[in-house]
Amino acid sequence: MDVVSKLVDVTMDFEARIFGRKRRIRAVDRVSLEVRRGEIYGLVGESGGGKSTIGRISIRLYKPTKGRVFYGKLDITELPESKLRYLRREMQLIPQDPYGAINPIQTIGEALVEPLLIHYKLSKDEAVEQAHRALEEVGLHTSTEFFTRRPRELSGGQLQRAVIAKAMILKPKYIVTDEQTSNLDASIRTSIIKLLLDLCEKYEQSLLFITHDIALLILITNRIGVLYLAQLFEEGPTEKVVKNPLHPYTKALLSAIPLLSDELGLEKVYLKGEIGDPSNPPRGCGLHPRCPYAMDKCKIEEPPLIMVNEGRSVKCWLYYKP
Ligand SMILES: Nc1ncnc2c1ncn2[C@@H]1O[C@H](COP(=O)(O)OP(=O)(O)OP(=O)(O)O)[C@@H](O)[C@H]1O
Ligand code: SF4
Ligand SMILES: [Mg+2]
Repeated sequence: MDVVSKLVDVTMDFEARIFGRKRRIRAVDRVSLEVRRGEIYGLVGESGGGKSTIGRISIRLYKPTKGRVFYGKLDITELPESKLRYLRREMQLIPQDPYGAINPIQTIGEALVEPLLIHYKLSKDEAVEQAHRALEEVGLHTSTEFFTRRPRELSGGQLQRAVIAKAMILKPKYIVTDEQTSNLDASIRTSIIKLLLDLCEKYEQSLLFITHDIALLILITNRIGVLYLAQLFEEGPTEKVVKNPLHPYTKALLSAIPLLSDELGLEKVYLKGEIGDPSNPPRGCGLHPRCPYAMDKCKIEEPPLIMVNEGRSVKCWLYYKP
């Protein structure tokens, strides 16, 4: 299977000051995953689980503390910015905050023309023409009206369309989209997601789709990875994971969608309390303080990542067979 992006045993530590004291936050803990050519891989989990950090590492906006990052077969872990620059047109991020995606003092037209001039030897007129076409393609008709506006002069939905146009303008092969639509009304959100998926299909792009909304991932992804406190707890083909979730955390995420879990006859699992502190994660299994199945062993020993059939893996002692 052709792989577009691969993380191998990746760890990312940040230093943060908490109440004046320096603390290490392990945002990503030995995560391996791959996004295959033409697929939509969904990464789901609660806030602070490490989703955005993984997305940024996979396009080498962050360099991991440990582990390797591949783009196709190319190991890009240590590539300097000068060499990464030409790869940037093939790997794009649609970030969590749309106002961070387009410089607030730039017009939408300037934001679209700039990458074309940097990455391709185009004349200014050619770049402007392509930028207009890109705006039309994301439904910003008439493009001339939007070309001269700044991000704050657009509605939420229009801005998201402009952000997609900016990500698409270099025709990337791999896109990371990070909770792009979480702050939009449901109907606008649906149309923006449909637009993104249609464009990805048209240009045969691969997508790492990051969200806390597992219901959305069920509808649009080929495979999913379930992340909790920096670790990948479960991974597999979406349909198989949804119909037969293995990890108690995945079961809890699906239990939060009563209609679906009733229809599929899924066991309901409810977790206690809140997600743990990434600067001081629990010993053993990270979920043990909240898990209704926790055993003594879970409080002391970290479970291994267990490969089960059908290309699935799960990190839980319940599935360990010595
Ligand atoms: N630049 C940074 N410096 C310090 N800590 C960071 C930094 N970026 C992320 N973190 C911390 O790393 C952990 C994982 O953050 P991340 O943003 O990847 O999570 P997330 O799953 O995307 O969360 P959310 O759903 O809220 O967007 C969090 O505890 C966060 O506070
Ligand atoms: S390893 Fe133990 S605590 Fe962790 S999810 Fe499995 S049963 Fe629950
Ligand atoms: Mg995030």
